[in-house]
Amino acid sequence: MLEVEGLTKQFSSGIMKKRNVSAVDCVSFHIKKGKTLGLVGESGCGKTTIGRLILRLVEPTSGKVVFDGIDLLSLKRSELRKIRPRMQMIFQDPDSSLNPRLKIGTSIAEPLRLHGTVPKDERAQKIMELVETVGLNPEHVNRYPYQLSGGQNQRVVLARILALNPDLIIADEPTSSLDVSVQAQILNLMRDLQKKFNHTYLFISHDLEVVKIMSDQIAVMYLGKLVEVGETTDVYNNAKHPYTQALLSSRRILLKGETPGPADIPTGCRFHPRCPQKQDKCAIEEPEPVEVEKGHYVACHLV
Ligand SMILES: Nc1ncnc2c1ncn2[C@@H]1O[C@H](COP(=O)(O)OP(=O)(O)OP(=O)(O)O)[C@@H](O)[C@H]1O
Ligand SMILES: [Mg+2]
Repeated sequence: MLEVEGLTKQFSSGIMKKRNVSAVDCVSFHIKKGKTLGLVGESGCGKTTIGRLILRLVEPTSGKVVFDGIDLLSLKRSELRKIRPRMQMIFQDPDSSLNPRLKIGTSIAEPLRLHGTVPKDERAQKIMELVETVGLNPEHVNRYPYQLSGGQNQRVVLARILALNPDLIIADEPTSSLDVSVQAQILNLMRDLQKKFNHTYLFISHDLEVVKIMSDQIAVMYLGKLVEVGETTDVYNNAKHPYTQALLSSRRILLKGETPGPADIPTGCRFHPRCPQKQDKCAIEEPEPVEVEKGHYVACHLV
C-alpha cells in the first residue's frame, strides 16, 4: 500500500554560512493495506518530516514513495492534487486544524463541497452520518470549535478526513494534547474506523505504550535514521538495538548525554556517543540494516 525507499531530506540552514541539516536520512519501510506502522523516536528525530515528505508537503531531497502503486515523487502538482484526498494527515493539536470561525457542521461540509464527492442535496445527510460515525452528537454541528473539548474537536478533524474517503492516514501524535482518558477514547475510535474502512495508518508518536496498542509494525527512529523496524511483537519482545532497548526498558536504561542535533551528526553509528554497548568500530563505520528475523531489521554493529 505504502512503500517508502531511501527517503532523504536535507534542509539548508544558517544565514551567513549555508549548511545542510540532514533531518531524514535514507528511511525505508512498507505498510500493507489496512495495517498500521508506528513511528517512534525522540523529539526532533524527524518523525513529522517523514509524514510531510510522504504527502509532499515538503519535497524530498531523494528517495522513493509509492502509494498504491503510484510513484508519488514523479507526479506533477496537478496529478498529485487529484490523489491527495486519498492521503490525509492528522496533527497533534485539533484546534489548529479547525477554522475557529466555522461551525462544526460547516467545517465537515467543506471537504464534501471542495471535492464534490457527495451531491449537494445529500450533503446534510452525509454530515449527520459522519457526525455519528465519529461519536459526536447532532447538536454539535451548530457549535464552534471553542465550544467543544479537545477530544471532541479531534473527532471533528476525523469526520472531515472521513468525508474524503482516504486510504492512508498519517496521524502525527493525534492524541498527545489530550487527557489520558480522552486519549484512549480517540485511539479506540481510530482503531474502529480503521477496521470499518480498512484504512492504512502511519502512526507517529513518542509514546511507546500508545504505539504498542495501535501498531502492527514499529519503526524506531534516531536522528533521522531508522535503527530498528519489525512486527510489533518482535520489536517489543526481542528488541535488538541498544536505543530500542533503552526506550523499552521499564526503568529506562539511562542514556548518556543529550541527543545531538541533525546539524552535527556523529560519525559512524550516530547513536554511538550515547550507546551503553559501543565498540571501537561504532565510531568509525555506519551500520547497515540487517534482517535478524523475518521482517525484523536492525542497524547496529552488535547484531
Ligand atoms: N522546514 C525546516 N527547515 C529546517 N529544518 C527543519 C525544518 N523542518 C524540520 N526541520 C528540522 O528537522 C529535524 C526533524 O524535525 P521533525 O519536526 O521532523 O521532528 P519530530 O521527530 O517530529 O519531533 P517532535 O517529536 O518534536 O515533533 C529537526 O531538527 C528540525 O529542526
Ligand atoms: Mg513532530
